[in-house]
Amino acid sequence: MGMSVVGIQLILESVPVSNTYSLTKQRTKQLRILATRANSMDIKSTVAFVAAAAAWTMSSGNSSTDTTAKSTGAPTQCPVTGHKVEGSSGCPFSQGLPLPDPGHRCDPNSVDEFKIPDVPPLTDKQREVIKATAPVLAEHGVTITTHFYKNMIRAHPELRDVFSETAQKLGHQPRALASAVYAYAVNIDDLTPLLPVVDRIAYKHTSLHIVAEQYGIVGKHLIQAIVDILGDAVTPEIGDAWYNGYWNLAKIFIQRERDIYSAAVQAGGWEGWRPFKVAKRVKESDEITSFYLKPAEDTGKPIPTYHPGQYLGVSLNIPALGHKQARQYSLSDAPNGEYYRISVKREDGVAIPTPENPEVPNHPGWISNVLHKDLHEGDLIDVAPPYGDFFYEPSTVTPNAPLVLLSAGVGQTALLSILKSQIDNADKKITYATVAKNEKTHAFGNYIRDLEKSHKNLTFKVFYSSPGDKAVQGAHFDHHGRMNLEKIKDSLYLDDDATEYFLCGPAAFMTDKLKELSALGVDEKRVHLELFSAGELPSGN
Ligand SMILES: Cc1cc2nc3c(=O)[nH]c(=O)nc-3n(C[C@H](O)[C@H](O)[C@H](O)COP(=O)(O)OP(=O)(O)OC[C@H]3O[C@@H](n4cnc5c(N)ncnc54)[C@H](O)[C@@H]3O)c2cc1C
Ligand code: HEM
Repeated sequence: MGMSVVGIQLILESVPVSNTYSLTKQRTKQLRILATRANSMDIKSTVAFVAAAAAWTMSSGNSSTDTTAKSTGAPTQCPVTGHKVEGSSGCPFSQGLPLPDPGHRCDPNSVDEFKIPDVPPLTDKQREVIKATAPVLAEHGVTITTHFYKNMIRAHPELRDVFSETAQKLGHQPRALASAVYAYAVNIDDLTPLLPVVDRIAYKHTSLHIVAEQYGIVGKHLIQAIVDILGDAVTPEIGDAWYNGYWNLAKIFIQRERDIYSAAVQAGGWEGWRPFKVAKRVKESDEITSFYLKPAEDTGKPIPTYHPGQYLGVSLNIPALGHKQARQYSLSDAPNGEYYRISVKREDGVAIPTPENPEVPNHPGWISNVLHKDLHEGDLIDVAPPYGDFFYEPSTVTPNAPLVLLSAGVGQTALLSILKSQIDNADKKITYATVAKNEKTHAFGNYIRDLEKSHKNLTFKVFYSSPGDKAVQGAHFDHHGRMNLEKIKDSLYLDDDATEYFLCGPAAFMTDKLKELSALGVDEKRVHLELFSAGELPSGN
């Protein structure tokens, strides 16, 4: 269900692959063995070892397989680390100045961070260095990215408005960034498998209004963090390769994000934040409230449409933090030209006491609580246009193929939009199954039950994991316990191999459902997932 990735493919295709050097299979294998062995060593010796291995492999490769390599002249030397650099295009931190250079400091602070450098495509040699050092990044990636965030935010406090405080604190964002960088390194020869991931990240970025200039800030602090953590084991050759690698990757994102912004504007939307007014608030359950949002300034034109399943970015001031925060919320209604509706669960937070800290307080979520407590009808909130690669697009599936929508908790929102957009097609059979804790936390139950009565094409199944005393089985809910697909398998349209499955809920829920669907013979290609947090989508394997 992903959007077109033609844009990225074009960029990738336009990057000429330098054929100045190629490794024999035998040498590549040796290099991999060396890199694997390096995993058990300490940081500095690992990097030095792997780099040495790469350099050895490449220099010995050069003599036998390279027919086009240019003569690089005498080796140059990094004035700070003393490392000899053969054939380097220069120090990354002096923007390609040859080494040794009188002004050279090996200091990332000398970089003009707002300038997007005109980096050349990666050479084969740089690809090999990146691949060879990938295991080290995998091992120390989170340490590097945690250090990177701390320093970057210190140098650029305005980015507190952009990055999630919580994702930093809980380590989610450093982990997501580290694994993206690692995935890039190991797929460096063929980035095609990464294209859907790039799309997913690019949509998240655009929903937070990330702009090209910020890649300079991130690039500078990321390279600085690699140097800080790995020390002088980062030879200019390694630094050079990663600097070039970062910018080649950043340019893919910058281009894709530019395309997304342009498409939004062309579709009658806008780029960045636009003030919207809360036209209505509706309490849907004890913990979920819907907000109906209309543009603060009425232009008289319909608001831009969206694909059901997509989300909005919202940004607002958090008084307790003294700055803004931004989050994504799925659109929970069908496109209607008049308003956007989001439905937000209030995150009360859970205290998780440990033996060392039995009195640990719970941490309520920042934005959801401000939305619930302080955002009233008539108030304003900044909104980014609808984005996202998880959506239902009838033109891309077999006409009238059945649709199965499986959600847990507030994961209902994205699927409710899909349900509402398709329900009036009487030829489309739809099953909507959801699991909630109990009747108090269950939202939209009456609404969907009424839809089921008036639409023969809809089947509605409800699971309560801990139903309360007042919940009546058969009336309020169908099954007691977690969602178990065996119990509703007659409603899953398993006989039709065109049935499409859309899942939204916590990662553990989706992993379980993927496994259950697979056991019931459903091909993973027909299963589409949305995750309400950063990180990789779960897989059934
Ligand atoms: C594509 C997408 C669509 C989404 N759609 C929806 C939607 O339709 N409806 C919806 O309600 N949500 C949705 N979300 C989730 C939403 O974006 C927010 O993540 C959610 O509202 C929590 O934000 P928050 O600022 O309130 O909590 P955060 O401050 O981000 O905290 C997140 C969680 O961590 C806990 N926490 C915070 N700080 C700490 C700490 N120091 N130690 C331990 N725990 C801590 C909080 O209690 C909370 O449970 C979506 C997310 C994505 C990515
Ligand atoms: C090549 C460079 C970059 C890479 C590889 C990268 C990678 C990622 C990844 C993997 C995620 C998590 C996506 C998800 O699963 O939700 C993410 C989210 C995010 N990125 Fe980037 N990113 C890059 C550049 C930037 C830049 C330049 C900025 C802006 C300064 C930025 C800001 C964010 C923000 C704000 C989030 C949301 C999570 C949060 O709030 O902490 N990123 N990025």
